[in-house]
Amino acid sequence: MIAAYFKYLFRSGNQHSIHSPFLFELYTQVISVRKDNNPDYVALKSLRKELLASDEEIEILDLGAGSRVDKSNFRKIKTIARNAEKPAKFGRLFNRLIQRFQPHTILELGTSLGLTTLYMAKAKPDADLITFEGCPETAKKAKQHFDKFNANNIEIVLGNIDQTLPEALKRMNRVLDFAYFDANHRFEPTVQYFEDCLPYIQNDSVFIFDDIYWSEGMTKAWEHIKAHPRVTLTVDLFWIGLVFFRTEQVKEDFVLRF
Ligand SMILES: C[S@@+](CC[C@H](N)C(=O)[O-])C[C@H]1O[C@@H](n2cnc3c(N)ncnc32)[C@H](O)[C@@H]1O
Repeated sequence: MIAAYFKYLFRSGNQHSIHSPFLFELYTQVISVRKDNNPDYVALKSLRKELLASDEEIEILDLGAGSRVDKSNFRKIKTIARNAEKPAKFGRLFNRLIQRFQPHTILELGTSLGLTTLYMAKAKPDADLITFEGCPETAKKAKQHFDKFNANNIEIVLGNIDQTLPEALKRMNRVLDFAYFDANHRFEPTVQYFEDCLPYIQNDSVFIFDDIYWSEGMTKAWEHIKAHPRVTLTVDLFWIGLVFFRTEQVKEDFVLRF
């Protein structure tokens, strides 16, 4: 990842390297915004602080990359908050992206403690947000956080995403406007989840892939997604990759500073 990060620093540009008007507006007005004061952020920040200090232990069932499937262990909430939760600047970015694109249906693959879910849910309380988690104890904690924040637009789907995602997409039977893929960080599941979701997209759908350089498999998955014929525009921010399907857009891949 270190080598990939140096490569990213070398290759990444800013607004001056963007010639697409759509992306220029998105980058200057949404992606690279530094100060966005939103009252929800104060409460979310204090929840994160609380979790980062929590010695409570829960039993973990990790169905993701590097895990020993079907083998559980115990982990402190503060360890999960430190290692699995996406930092606040990404939650704020997703909040701004949702405000910009106004999705009706949002999916999150990989809930964990639900912090990023809350950043997304609060951006559009009338959107339906379905979040998927495989670990029952982790999902239980996330549910407590959603209740605490009165986030009534979130549904948690418990189980292995390999099965729960296709089932939920079929049951949902409507357009998927926004999806954040942050669960099983391996090549096959990442590509499989992407392909499961594709039949449900519309022209302005937005997909976000997490940890695109986390491993060789994830880098390969990112390359596969970029090359997919339905994908027109991608934005590599190193820690995450944004994917767009706008048919009016010339196919192009950008690497930008975040
Ligand atoms: C990196 S964390 C998600 C972090 C969260 N999206 C955030 O930004 O705060 C990944 C989560 O995905 C879950 N997960 C991994 N593989 C899964 C699978 N195959 N099915 C269901 N959940 C899975 C893990 O239990 C873990 O809680």
